[in-house]
Amino acid sequence: MQSILITGCSTGIGYYCAQALHKDGYKVFATARNRDDVENLKAEGFLSTQLDLDSSDSIDAALKWVLAQTGGELDALFNNGAYGQPGAVEDLTRDVLRAQFETNLFGTHELTCKALKIMREQGYGRIIQNSSVLGLITLKYRGAYNASKFALEGLTDTLRLELEGSPISISLIEPGPIESDFRKNAQIAFKENIDTQQSAHKHIYEAVNKRLANEQKTQKKDPFTLGPEAVYKALKHALESTNPKARYYVTLPTWLFSILRRVLPTQALDWVLKKISNTENK
Ligand SMILES: NC(=O)c1ccc[n+]([C@@H]2O[C@H](COP(=O)([O-])OP(=O)(O)OC[C@H]3O[C@@H](n4cnc5c(N)ncnc54)[C@H](OP(=O)(O)O)[C@@H]3O)[C@@H](O)[C@H]2O)c1
Repeated sequence: MQSILITGCSTGIGYYCAQALHKDGYKVFATARNRDDVENLKAEGFLSTQLDLDSSDSIDAALKWVLAQTGGELDALFNNGAYGQPGAVEDLTRDVLRAQFETNLFGTHELTCKALKIMREQGYGRIIQNSSVLGLITLKYRGAYNASKFALEGLTDTLRLELEGSPISISLIEPGPIESDFRKNAQIAFKENIDTQQSAHKHIYEAVNKRLANEQKTQKKDPFTLGPEAVYKALKHALESTNPKARYYVTLPTWLFSILRRVLPTQALDWVLKKISNTENK
C-alpha cells in the first residue's frame, strides 16, 4: 500500500484528495494545522495528526509520527496547505508578507527537504506541489500570494533539475479556480491584515471585498470553476504514471494563461491582466 502525507486536509482540495486516495487504497496521512480538524478527520477514519507549516517543531513531530507507522518510509508527499493574502503590494507590511511566505514557501520547503531525505534513503519518492495559475501570471491585489507561488515554482523547477538521475520525481499542479474554502480564508486574511483606511487603494478595496464575498457565494456558477476532482485527476497521474509531468494545468484559464504568458510580450499580457483585474474588482 502506497503511503502519502498531505498538508492542509481540513477543507477544500486537501480534504477531497485525502478522501479519494483513501478510497483508492492509499495509506493517507491527512494532516491539518488545527487540533479540532485533526479530531474530525480521525472521527472520519483518517490517520491524522497536526501539521502547521509555520512551525518546524510541528513539521518534525508530524513526520516522526508518520515514520513510526510506516517503518521509516514515505512514498509520496502532496504539498497542498496554503492560503491567499489579498491586498495591494504597497499595503503589505513586512510581517504580513513574511507570514505568507512562512506558510506557502518556507514551511513547504522545509517539509519537502525532510521528506526528500527519507525518499533518497528508501530509493523512491513522488513529491507533488499544489501551486496555482497565480504562480504563472499575476493579478492586481494578489501580490503576496503571487510572489509565494512564483517562488514555489522557482524552487520546484530548480529541484527538478537537481533530482536528475534520482528515483524521485517532483510535479507541479497548476489549478485555476477550484471550489474550496480558499476565498473565505482569503477574505479573513484581507480583513485581518490590510489597513484599508490608510491605503491609496482605499476606494478599490470595497470592490475587492465585494469580489471575495461574491466569489464565495457564486463560485459554483462560474463556468471556469471546477470541483476538486479536477485536481485529483492530476494528482493521481503524478502519483501513478511511469512518466509524471513537470506541470499539470487544471482548468481552462490555466491552460490559456500558460500559453499567453509564453507568446505575448509583457505589455500585451499586462493589458489582458489589467482588464481581468479591473473587471473583477469593479
Ligand atoms: N481553490 C482555488 O481556486 C485554488 C486555485 C489555485 C491553487 N490553489 C491551491 O490549492 C491548495 C489548497 O487550497 P484550497 O483551495 O483547498 O483552499 P482551502 O479550502 O482554504 O484549503 C487550504 C488548506 O491549507 C491549510 N493551511 C493554511 N495555512 C496552513 C498552515 N500554516 N499549515 C498547514 N496548513 C495550512 C488550511 O488549513 P486551515 O483550515 O487551518 O486554515 C486548509 O486546510 C493551496 O495550495 C492553494 O494555493 C487553490
